[in-house]
Amino acid sequence: TLPILLDVDTGVDDALALIFAITHPSLDVRAITCVAGNAPLAQVVENTLRILDAADAPPIPVAAGAVRPLLSPGRAASHVHGEDGLGGLVLPETSRVPESVSAVELMRRTLAESDEPLTLVALAPQTNLALLLRTHPEVVDKIERIVFMGGSASVGNATALAEFNVWHDPEAAAIVLGSGIPIFMYGLDVFNQVTVAQDAAASLATGGSPLGVVVGALLGNRVALSEDSSLVYTGLIGDAGALCALVEPESLRVERRPVRVELAGYGRGQTVVDRRRYSGEDVIYGGVGDWSVIEVALDVDAPRYAALFL
Ligand code: BDR
Ligand code: CA
Repeated sequence: TLPILLDVDTGVDDALALIFAITHPSLDVRAITCVAGNAPLAQVVENTLRILDAADAPPIPVAAGAVRPLLSPGRAASHVHGEDGLGGLVLPETSRVPESVSAVELMRRTLAESDEPLTLVALAPQTNLALLLRTHPEVVDKIERIVFMGGSASVGNATALAEFNVWHDPEAAAIVLGSGIPIFMYGLDVFNQVTVAQDAAASLATGGSPLGVVVGALLGNRVALSEDSSLVYTGLIGDAGALCALVEPESLRVERRPVRVELAGYGRGQTVVDRRRYSGEDVIYGGVGDWSVIEVALDVDAPRYAALFL
């Protein structure tokens, strides 16, 4: 099994990712940290705890982290995830409570106490990760790899150029990209492709299993995407795809590419992915602080990931 730390802003598709991570036998979730993003922090924490109950998860420690980005104002995505972050899905109250320590301390402690390096999976704005790197550089060598959902080599969603997680806290993403830790980017190029058909989601929701009902309802979250704001079924598994990437990397086309985060102007929050043919990346990019050569997922066998998720 692969031991992971999960950082989330639950979030309809973060909820799908949490359920996937808890139920997949080859993933071992050691701790979950929460950050403001799709919804305000307190709502993210509550949603996360309730989803753990729905997935019948073991007692995994959960901690609250940053209430807003490093420099940007906090801007929740209620137009996508609803005011409650779960698209209106009402879950029973939970007796789970968050840890009394911060997300940064929970990550530090979990890394420090682990016998083996851990994979850090970020499905949200990277504020907590940036704070960890700046506060506790001594645990960096316990991070095997950072896998993040965010960024794009093509279209944006928060703006025409920028993906939401990176756009929400561009400085944090720039700190993470500049950390020197091996990084894998699961961006919109693949995120937008993996969808579950409406009839499959509906049969989950009516199929009788309590967890299936929750997953079906989350997949059925309708998003105001069109210009007249009519509600559209997407069936996106979203953040859960970044966990599929851990389990089944061979279903992705991945390239090592130089990537930088734009911090100014209209492009603020854009990940510029240099897809030119080039030789000798060390000659061109060596020593230049603002470009980092990372792994970028550019294409996915989408039906395969949808099936894996189901
Ligand atoms: C990302 O932003 C959020 O809406 C989703 O949870 C995902 O992490 C997509 O841009
Ligand atoms: Ca998310």
